[in-house]
Amino acid sequence: MNAIELRRKYIEFFEKHGHKAIPSAPVVPENDPTVLFTTAGMHPLVPYLLGEPHPQGKRLTDYQKCIRTGDIDSVGDASHLTFFEMMGNWSLGDYFKKESIAMSYEFLKDVLGFDMNKISVTVFAGEEGIPRDEEAAEAWQNAGIPKERIFYCSREHNWWGPAGETGPCGPDTEIFFDTGKEKCSEHCDPTCSCGKYLEIWNNVFMQYNKKQDGTLEPLKAPNVDTGLGLERVISLLEGKNNVYETELFEEVIAKIRELSKVENIQSYRIIADHLRASMFMIVDGVRPSNVEQGYVLRRLLRRTIRHMRKIELDPNNIGILVNTFVGVLSEMYPEIPANKEILVSVIEEEKTKFLKTLEQGEKEFSKNLEKAKSAGQSKLDGQVVFRLYDTFGFPPEMTAELAEENGISIDMKEFEELFKKHQELSRAGSEAKFKGGLADHSEKTTAYHTATHLLHKALQVVLGPHATQKGSNLTAERLRFDFANPQKVTPEELKQVEDLVNEQIQRDLVVTCEEMTLEEAKAAGATGLFENKYGDKVKVYTIGDFSKEICGGPHVERTGNMGHFRITKEEGVAAGVRRIKAVLE
Ligand code: ALA
Repeated sequence: MNAIELRRKYIEFFEKHGHKAIPSAPVVPENDPTVLFTTAGMHPLVPYLLGEPHPQGKRLTDYQKCIRTGDIDSVGDASHLTFFEMMGNWSLGDYFKKESIAMSYEFLKDVLGFDMNKISVTVFAGEEGIPRDEEAAEAWQNAGIPKERIFYCSREHNWWGPAGETGPCGPDTEIFFDTGKEKCSEHCDPTCSCGKYLEIWNNVFMQYNKKQDGTLEPLKAPNVDTGLGLERVISLLEGKNNVYETELFEEVIAKIRELSKVENIQSYRIIADHLRASMFMIVDGVRPSNVEQGYVLRRLLRRTIRHMRKIELDPNNIGILVNTFVGVLSEMYPEIPANKEILVSVIEEEKTKFLKTLEQGEKEFSKNLEKAKSAGQSKLDGQVVFRLYDTFGFPPEMTAELAEENGISIDMKEFEELFKKHQELSRAGSEAKFKGGLADHSEKTTAYHTATHLLHKALQVVLGPHATQKGSNLTAERLRFDFANPQKVTPEELKQVEDLVNEQIQRDLVVTCEEMTLEEAKAAGATGLFENKYGDKVKVYTIGDFSKEICGGPHVERTGNMGHFRITKEEGVAAGVRRIKAVLE
């Protein structure tokens, strides 16, 4: 069974059990500033997990492209990937633990043909106020897993979510496959990271909503959210116990080995993993930059290039590796070959930029390393880390890794202080994020959000009512807006759109928000975006006499202080869909 068949069998199995298959979402969440990337299949489903009815019903299934930046340091072992695919099934207030566990068991045994003697599971051991999950343990025993292979574990292991700071969460049960490796000690169990037990599936029993103040509020109807790792399952089906030896990576790793002069498996894997993840980010519109998703992409590409040099693989060969991946991924992900040119050009451009300073930066690093070592320091000064970042484009995480390879650490705290100071001086207001996770909620993002509504309306005025929103993505630096239009927008039209938006900004219009039912909103003439995402009551934002849209907000109170609106780019992204990028200056 290959990866495409595995996906198909998964969906078919859950369809047979009454689930509706839903499409996969992009890796960059649309219109959601609470996370940088889609980290799990549940992410696009958050509103429904919180209680809104889903148009497809209470049982759903899909496969979803995910990106996790929290695992970057584990990349290089046998099973952690930055980009991976998660197959999932959901119960939205329908079945619960017993049925979910029974279905997982049946799928592994009957569809995948796994030897169930090799399966172990963990369940939540409970803590003050939350009982031990006997219900899940009993369901496992009934399904056929003996007591000895059911482990009770703490919150650290058996609690999942929320995906951002707030949202649905709850106890989970995790399913592990025994790879047959020796136990690393007599205490070795599924929670051990030695590689004997490979986690393949996680069934989360979402009973709570974590609120902004940190408290847990019980959900009206508890849900099930599961995630089965596609790459890991393929590695087991192929009898490899290692994702990099599977059909998904084999050819690329071989190419890296062939082109390099130094043998270093960990570097091979880092290069392959980071390049693959970068490609999926680029396809979904991310470009290297110093903030948010763009910064994560930059870090991945620069780390790839550094590891290429480490194994004496000329970074100018990066295009060969991209092309090898295009071949490997093309059947599973048609969006990859469809964007081949853009993938190569974005990656080549970032490579060229970084190569200009890399060698000099490495020299600078070595000089300072020696200095620090001979002065008996255990840490490299934040000043040095900052200089490497600012002058040579070294992401601090990369400097930390270089330092670690040389037996020293870095003063990250001092770096962050310097970085902040520098930012306050050079770019007041616009705040960059270093650690993946929460996106920017600054005033600037809010202003971009309001600008998106003005742009949407202006496009409809200039081009016609067909120019409706197809997608949107905001950072503190720019907005990106996709809309329907059969042909390229002319420079004259773009100028008209720009002027119209700036006119509304100058008019200093008041922005108001009202709650009403969807019907009332439609009757009031509000633009109804993504209608099926909304429950009964919706928020309608009105900008003076110019625009009225259903939206979750937030928005500025008046348009006057938003700055000057300028369109920086207009391009096609798909048949009949155009994309505009614009900034507020
Ligand atoms: N959302 C759960 C996870 O990511 C299934 O593990």
